[in-house]
Amino acid sequence: MTPEQDTARARVAALRAEIAHHDRLYHELDAPEIEDAAYDLLLKELRGLEERFPELLTADSPTQKVGGAPSELFAPVAHSHRLLSLDNVFDDADLDAWFERVVKGLGRAPALVCEPKIDGLSIAVVYEHGKLLRAATRGDGAVGEDVTPNAMTIATLPHRLKKPAAGPLPAWLEVRGEVFLFKRDFGALNERLDAAGKPTFKNPRNAAAGALRQKDPAVTRARPLAVYLHGLVRIDGVAFATYSEALRWLAGVGLPVHPLSTPCATLDDAKDFIGSLRARRHELDHEIDGVVLKVDDLAAHTELGATSKAPRWATAFKLPPEQVETTLRDIQVSIGRTGAATPFAVLEPVYVGGVTVSMATLHNEHEIARKDLRIGDRVIVQRAGDVIPEVVGPVAEKRTGSERAFVMLDACPACQAPLALREGEAVRRCENFECTAQTWGRIVHFASRSALDIEHLGEVTARALLDLGLVEDVGDVFALDAARVAQIPQFKEKSVQNLLAAIEVARTRPLDRVLVGLGIRHVGVTAAKKLAERFGTLEAIEAASVEELAAVEGLGEVIATSVAEFFRREATLALLAKLRAGGLRPEAPRVTAGDGPLTGKTLVLTGTLPTLSRTQAEERIVAAGGKVTGSVSKKTSYVIAGEEAGTKLDKAKALGVT
Ligand code: IVH
Repeated sequence: MTPEQDTARARVAALRAEIAHHDRLYHELDAPEIEDAAYDLLLKELRGLEERFPELLTADSPTQKVGGAPSELFAPVAHSHRLLSLDNVFDDADLDAWFERVVKGLGRAPALVCEPKIDGLSIAVVYEHGKLLRAATRGDGAVGEDVTPNAMTIATLPHRLKKPAAGPLPAWLEVRGEVFLFKRDFGALNERLDAAGKPTFKNPRNAAAGALRQKDPAVTRARPLAVYLHGLVRIDGVAFATYSEALRWLAGVGLPVHPLSTPCATLDDAKDFIGSLRARRHELDHEIDGVVLKVDDLAAHTELGATSKAPRWATAFKLPPEQVETTLRDIQVSIGRTGAATPFAVLEPVYVGGVTVSMATLHNEHEIARKDLRIGDRVIVQRAGDVIPEVVGPVAEKRTGSERAFVMLDACPACQAPLALREGEAVRRCENFECTAQTWGRIVHFASRSALDIEHLGEVTARALLDLGLVEDVGDVFALDAARVAQIPQFKEKSVQNLLAAIEVARTRPLDRVLVGLGIRHVGVTAAKKLAERFGTLEAIEAASVEELAAVEGLGEVIATSVAEFFRREATLALLAKLRAGGLRPEAPRVTAGDGPLTGKTLVLTGTLPTLSRTQAEERIVAAGGKVTGSVSKKTSYVIAGEEAGTKLDKAKALGVT
């Protein structure tokens, strides 16, 4: 392993640990510590590393999770009804409790339908007069991404519906389903990739996620996606009494529904179904992570309703995560950009839950002590669905006596500075601002896409610059010149020019990007934008008091204090002096959302515009006070149709939108 790989591996482990920590704060404790944007940055950094070092990408990586905010690659689609999630139950007692609540809510014990919970991606599909109109990903539940061309490559998803046995095709049919890859198609796909010398996918879900969100539908087509529908959102002119009846109707018009979807008259029948599916789990031709139980009676769905997250009329019985045994070869410590020291397990690679796991975060030293993990132990590793692989604990009876207790480093593995434990924090930190591990992380962050976006300055180049002594810290990046850059091995004339050109562009990036790049604790993309808009210049932010900072709407005490502290630090002042000497001249923030002729209007762009790029057009609309959305509805004020405008234009015409 090269030193770059080593550093990247450590950083990846640290990032995953940090992300897992924030996931827990957000999802379980409802007490996030950082802004969404700061969280996004962590993910982004991780994604960047995984792109550069594909061998570090694992299926359990948080970057492989879908269900985050919709990306900008595809047109946004506002879902007519939120795509809800499902509440989980983990054992019979939980299940009984769920059913009791249902019985209490309805005043009777309803019949159920059980079906496999496919480990795939949700999709929302609309048919208009029997014609496939649109398919969208879940996104954040409210707004997804338009992936219609990709969904159209799914062989079993008809472009036109068959006529139903009785009655006409509905004018509007909106269904939900799960997109996935059959195991056999996944195997064949990986064999093909392997034969072509390309990296393979770690599991079917990853491959499906990548395929569904391909820019080029031809690539999607080469990965034979499958879909089963499992929800009916809206159907005009047809009414069903039960979910199973709706499924039969859907199957009748040619839509794919799960063959194992099974009506269960009683809860006991449902438990039998769960038992038999659990036993046959590995025989199925696709991966599942549980069984979904739904009340069959559709009127009961309305009666029971939903929480903000999930319907009360359904639940997911999660099948327990797979566990395997392996050896804990070592416990190492990685240092992040902020100095946080995170221990992680180096494992004898082991296949579990559909992926090969060779590393797992151990969060912090207390966690290691609590689990009584010793280096050399045989350990139980588990992985459930999307969750980061976890070392459950040691197999104490297999100890030979040669195991060693882990002693948390008291010095940073990169710079030997003491690792200090701040009050109220669980992780130790390297507090040496000049630590090479931290500096490397900071440079990479500074140059990353959401910050100064210095193309050609990634992890490897940053490492080379540091190793060769060409930079000592972020501030030196702007002082790089041809003579210095040319010292990087493998950098030919062209690379030198490319990097210098990228640095030149970065000198005048907008102020908010500079703020992101500085890596101020708690300041992510959103906070940076707010600061930039309110203060306009770096100097004004530097001069602002905590009170003035906290007065910015949506910023709050924590961020304000962090910003003020950052700009009072000597190291910061030195850094800014260097950057300014190197030519840093941040562009003043652009005025957003103007007031003008389009105030209050919603516009949709479709097709290719002759003289403007999509972004330029959007900018002008916003400057004139308008809003741009991705899908046409009755609320759309205008649709701007360029060349080769597609279904959006058709829809606009149908709805009589100008
Ligand atoms: S019904 C209102 N049925 O699991 C929620 N969901 O963990 C309706 N999923 O987002 C969901 N198989 O994407 C339903 N047979 C099935 C499913 C299923 C997989 C997914 C779905 C949902 C997620 C919740």
